[in-house]
This record gives sequence, C-alpha cells and structure tokens, in this order.
Amino acid sequence: MKKIILGFVLGVGTIVVFASAFIVAGGMPVATRGNPLPLERLIAKIALNAALRGSDQLVAPFAANEAAYLAGAKVYRAQCAVCHSLPGESPGPIAQGLFPKPPRLFAEHHGVVGVSDDSAGETYWKVKNGIRLTGMPGFEKGLTDDEIWQVSLLLKNADKLPKSVQDFLAAKIPASP
Ligand code: HEC
Repeated sequence: MKKIILGFVLGVGTIVVFASAFIVAGGMPVATRGNPLPLERLIAKIALNAALRGSDQLVAPFAANEAAYLAGAKVYRAQCAVCHSLPGESPGPIAQGLFPKPPRLFAEHHGVVGVSDDSAGETYWKVKNGIRLTGMPGFEKGLTDDEIWQVSLLLKNADKLPKSVQDFLAAKIPASP
C-alpha cells in the first residue's frame, strides 16, 4: 500500500514539475496568434457544455416577431458586429485579433447560419454570462434582459429574417436607435 501511495505522489510530483518547467520556459502560449494547445478546445467545450445545462429551458418573455428582431438587430449592430461581423462583411481588425476567433453569426457553416441551430435560451445564457477567457463579454450589466432576449431571438432566426431586418443589418449607415 505504501508503495502505491509513494508511486502516486512521485507520479503527480513529476507532472507538476514538468508542467511548471513548460510554463516557466515560455511554452504556454499567451499571444492570441497560433493554434490551441492539445486538449485546450476539448476541455473548454466540456466546461461550457456543463455550464449551459438547462439553458434550453429558458423562454423569452415575448414573442419572436419582426419588432423583436429589429430591436435585436439594433443591439447587434451596436454591441456585437465589431466582433461577429454584419451579414456579408469580412471580420475587421478586432475580430481578426481575438483568440479564439469570434464566429460570424450571419455566415453559413456546414449549411447552418450562425447559431440558428442552438436554442434561443442557450444563446441568451452565453450573451448574458459571457464566455471566460475568450473575449466574449457577458452583457448582464450592459444590456437589459429584454435586449439580451431580442438579440438572442434574432440569432435563433438568422436564417429566416424578414426583409426589413435584413435591410437594417445590411445598411451602411446605422439607423438611429
Ligand atoms: C469583443 C468581442 C466580442 C463581442 C463584442 C461579442 N462577442 Fe460573442 N463571442 C466572441 C468570441 C471570441 C466568441 C467565441 C467564444 C468561444 O469560442 O467559445 C464569442 C461567442 C459568441 C456566441 C457563441 C457562438 C457559438 O458558436 O456557440 C454567441 C451566441 C455570441 N458570441 C453572441 C454575441 C452577441 C449577441 C454579442 C453582442 C450582444 C456578442 N457576442 C458580442 C467575441 C465577442
């Protein structure tokens, strides 16, 4: 038994020593360029999925309709587009410099527009709470609860927005709030 404990302590000790040496020697990437470390993406995904459990059950306090989308589009242009880009726009300097890269929420990836395949509740959770160490801010303090729902409903329906909302998002000059 004593040998097993000793082996365990030595094993853990060796890992700690090597991990510390790796970090002190500058092996741990700090700059935003470059690829993720092995397992970095997997661990971040597992942690995020655990935090998101139950968010599917959250329901908006109003209907998803044109008025809600237009209100959400105003929020999107003012607070999100700098990182997540407008429809048809390529990422600007801030978006290009972030790690991980912010997804373009009106672009199609594998046949899905942005996060329209996620529930509005899941997006609401992410917008309200943010995603630590990614650049994705939590908007709990900066936006009202209604505004967070409006932008979440907009993104849920990003693949089927009425023309008025598409035009508003595409307008070169932002309309006044
Ligand atoms: C300063 C940059 C920045 C701003 C501003 C920002 N985001 Fe993000 N956002 C990010 C980054 C980076 C990620 C990627 C996080 C990750 O990979 O886990 C992200 C992720 C997300 C996701 C999850 C995407 C997915 O694939 O699951 C949603 C939804 C989202 N943001 C919505 C918004 C909304 C809505 C706003 C505005 C109210 C906003 N973001 C503002 C940087 C930003």
